[in-house]
Amino acid sequence: MKQSRITGLGHYVPDRVVTNQDLEKLMDTNDAWIQERTGIKERRHVKVGGKDTTSSMGSAAAKIAIEKAGITANDIDFIVFATLSPDYYFPGPGVLVQKQLGIKKEIGALDVRNQCSGFIYSLSVADQFIKTGMYKTILVIGSEVHSGGLDMTTRGRNVSVIFGDGAGAAVLQATDEKDIGILSTHLHSEGQHAEELALIGPSTTDWVDKYIERNDPDESSHFPYMNGNFVFKNAVIRFQQVINEALDKNDFSAKDINLLVPHQANLRISQFIQKQMMLSSDQVYNNIQKYGNTTAASIPIAMSEAFEEGKIQKGDLVCLAAFGSGFTWASALIQW
Ligand code: UT7
Repeated sequence: MKQSRITGLGHYVPDRVVTNQDLEKLMDTNDAWIQERTGIKERRHVKVGGKDTTSSMGSAAAKIAIEKAGITANDIDFIVFATLSPDYYFPGPGVLVQKQLGIKKEIGALDVRNQCSGFIYSLSVADQFIKTGMYKTILVIGSEVHSGGLDMTTRGRNVSVIFGDGAGAAVLQATDEKDIGILSTHLHSEGQHAEELALIGPSTTDWVDKYIERNDPDESSHFPYMNGNFVFKNAVIRFQQVINEALDKNDFSAKDINLLVPHQANLRISQFIQKQMMLSSDQVYNNIQKYGNTTAASIPIAMSEAFEEGKIQKGDLVCLAAFGSGFTWASALIQW
């Protein structure tokens, strides 16, 4: 059976930096609260009416990943795109990337809807296609544009200070080498908590014409809702469970991890996991301070930056883990 390796990584974030001080001008919040509760100092937002979209940022990250892998866009056999903020209701951004990268082949393009766990879910799908021999080279992307859909008033402050825009991408390729690349992936969900972190409408359960007809100034269902404390409590448990599941499956323990790249949900969550699992600061990568929570993009952005900084080396044991809306949670263990 083939193994899949990450042979190229790339990331792209919009130029526009939005600091905590910038948010203070829009809502009743402050830098001290945001840093103390989340660790975030600034995030990126796309320019209103600018060129950056979920698909275009995904393509920009993908171009770098493709170049780093030493291949061309036409070598790609399949695209998997994770996002909760697609350019359109339909079609999904996967096909837009195929167009934007000028891929001539009529390859498949799959869109994945698993929010913060979306990148690991996508990686897992790609890994199965490679392991079965169906495809040799797969482009996996996570990209989000949150900024235009956030409630930038005091009403939405517990959510809007957290999320940022950006994209990350990885090229996965088949290898005949044993015990290398993606060792295993682990996917979970608990749908009974679907509405604890969700954006409900307008949607097919509340079509946009009904929404407009109501014309209710207090309406907020078009903004993301998060039951922050409940999500936090579940996150710290599920992160540890799914990391341990990956370690147990491969006969490793926490001390063997060279780098844990957790989904950047909240610095306090990452620090809690680090402490509980007795990991050193060198073993855990965080960049939420600069980008906020970029949902499906957070892991590939973090992995790409960690690699650029030399924090991921050949032979390293890298663990990816995520938790978020759904609830969904997931992990991947990679022998680099
Ligand atoms: O990526 C998907 C997974 N996401 C997560 O895992 C996120 C999980 N949750 C969290 O990270 C945290 O729950 C938050 C950062 C969202 C909130 O932190 P918290 O410590 O749970 O705060 P809280 O919601 O309990 O609110 C505490 C206080 C409240 O005021 P009162 O009722 O005590 O007077 C809030 O109204 O902080 C207030 N508050 C704010 N104050 C200033 C909430 N948001 C803000 C804000 N600025 N932005």
